[in-house]
This record gives sequence, C-alpha cells and structure tokens, in this order.
Amino acid sequence: MKRLINIVVNGEPHEVAVNPEQTLLEILREELGLTGTKKGCDQGECGACTVLVDGKPVSSCLVLAVSVNGKSIATIEGLSQNGRLHPLQEAFVQHGAIQCGFCTPGMLLAAKYLLENRPLPSEQEIKEAIAGNICRCTGYVKIIEAITAVAHSTAQ
Ligand code: FES
Ligand code: FES
Repeated sequence: MKRLINIVVNGEPHEVAVNPEQTLLEILREELGLTGTKKGCDQGECGACTVLVDGKPVSSCLVLAVSVNGKSIATIEGLSQNGRLHPLQEAFVQHGAIQCGFCTPGMLLAAKYLLENRPLPSEQEIKEAIAGNICRCTGYVKIIEAITAVAHSTAQ
C-alpha cells in the first residue's frame, strides 16, 4: 500500500505517494524526473546515486523513500543557481575532471559536503571524502585538482 511522504527537493516541496520498498533514488528519478542522480550499482558501492539528505551525503539507492519523509534533499539539479554553475561545476569543467560524466553528479555533491564542512581540506581529506564515489575514467587526479582549486579560491 502506498504512503504519502512530504519532502523538499532542491528547495521545492513535494508530496509523493511511495511504495514501502521504493528507494529515494527511484522516486527522484521515476516520480520526480530528476535523472541527474545516476543509478550505477544499486547496491551502495559506487556513489553514483549520491544526494544530500538534510545536508549530508547518502547513497540514495540504499535509502527507503519512506525514511526521508519530512527531510530536505539536494540533488545535482539544484547545484547551479540562477543559471550559473556552482564553482565546483566550473572547476570540474576547467580541470577536465569530467569524462563520461556518470560519476560527476555524486562526486560534486560529495565535494560540496566536504568544502562546506572542511573549507581547506588536505589532499588526503579530499581522497577520503570521495572514497565512496567510483570514477572509471579520470584516475581521480583531475577531480582532486578541481576540488583543491575551489577550496583555495574560496579560502582567499
Ligand atoms: S547506485 Fe547507489 S551506490 Fe551505486
Ligand atoms: S567521468 Fe566517467 S566515471 Fe567518472
């Protein structure tokens, strides 16, 4: 039997009827049409489905939709503001940190959480922050460079 949940996604309130077994990833993609959040492994291993729930990164494929009732969700669609890319998005483009792009939404949200909580992280801290986000293309070096560049530019 479906249950109604109320969530705020990227600042917009939504009331969604969900099945008990539906994941947050499924309702974001299939009910709300927010397909920027990617479905990779669907087992909590790859980080492609990372979103922020009440500001903290989670693998949305592992989170039941009913458990986020009343919570605030941030997805990649909410990262740019007023038609302007977020500084992390700009830096990923400038540093060539995006190839196929499948990992990018989750990677960006993990990086956003890091910089909000650790504005000038060490390289090791950056590696740890994105350790749950698998990238098969870039070798991570350019991703770490992009995050470092944003940290340094906003710390000045
Ligand atoms: S799709 Fe959720 S961790 Fe891989
Ligand atoms: S850019 Fe392809 S998986 Fe990261």
